[in-house]
Amino acid sequence: MSKTKIVVIGVGAVGATTAYTLLLRERVDELVLIDVNKDKARGDAIDMNHGLPFVGKTKVWAGDYEDCRGASIIIITAGAAQRPGETRVDLLKRNAAIFENIIDAVLQHNDDGILLIASNPVDIMSYFTWRKTQWPVERIIGSGTLLDSARFRYLIGEELGIDPRSIHAHIIGEHGDSELPVWSLANVAGTSIPLGEEKKERIFANTRDAAYEIISAKGATYYAIALALDRICTAILRDEGAVLNVSTLLKDYHGISDVYLGVPCVVDRSGVREVLKLSLSEREQRQLRMSAEKLQDLIRSMNE
Ligand code: NAI
Ligand code: 2OP
Repeated sequence: MSKTKIVVIGVGAVGATTAYTLLLRERVDELVLIDVNKDKARGDAIDMNHGLPFVGKTKVWAGDYEDCRGASIIIITAGAAQRPGETRVDLLKRNAAIFENIIDAVLQHNDDGILLIASNPVDIMSYFTWRKTQWPVERIIGSGTLLDSARFRYLIGEELGIDPRSIHAHIIGEHGDSELPVWSLANVAGTSIPLGEEKKERIFANTRDAAYEIISAKGATYYAIALALDRICTAILRDEGAVLNVSTLLKDYHGISDVYLGVPCVVDRSGVREVLKLSLSEREQRQLRMSAEKLQDLIRSMNE
């Protein structure tokens, strides 16, 4: 049986925590850590290897781009992260330049894996990656609003005293300030969420602004995104057909095309197998179009 390999490029707070999560959950046979800071990748690999007697058989090493050969999934979490007060979009120029080099290097060694992007602004970085690789769109996936949807479900669950896994609710659009909650379809076992407007507004504001709160408290977010990335990898490796709010290229989605945004997608071994078109209210459709326009303007500004 062939071995499964995941490569993590960028072993900072998010990359290291993601690798550790994949290790704990014994998702793959081989885990490769790549970072421009080779000492950090090497140190993390040694540290994780010393934990193997407690978990399982994953082989972990600090590698180079040639190790992308044969990888099923290449996760990119490299680049600049927000400092307190910065938005995700403020990272665009810095991370676009970093991605140019990373994608060139990956392409020399892999042309049939799945690229899973987490670096911010994640929707635009995913779109640039798709354009640059010219790979089939299903194999370039952004983490999108999966994390935001998890935050949303957690907060609704806390308010209702219900397990967040039983809350069906979506955040869609940009992974960032223009994202929107799909309250019109949110439900628990098919029943609508019994909360007033004020509470709903507070829950959404806390969801949208969660990263700012965490970054100002401790400098970075990494545990929940690591679990979200692990969830996407699992859906791919186990060919699950799981519905996850990842970022993908939209084609006439409520009139929106040619932009990556977070929407519910069916994820399996092929990557994004299908994009699910939600029956949005008029207001939600308008908000989604505004989110798309914001990102398209930014993409245009990078092309000028
Ligand atoms: P960090 O600063 O801790 O780590 C970034 C790592 O990238 C560093 O180890 C650095 O050496 C490495 N790096 C920089 N340039 C590189 C290159 N050319 N090649 C290889 N490695 C390179 O940052 P952190 O907190 O891990 O965040 C990483 C990214 O993930 C940021 O853009 C952040 O905004 C994003 N993020 C995205 C989330 C999401 O939901 N999509 C959630 C949390 C963070
Ligand atoms: C997050 O939402 C900063 O995008 C990162 O945690």
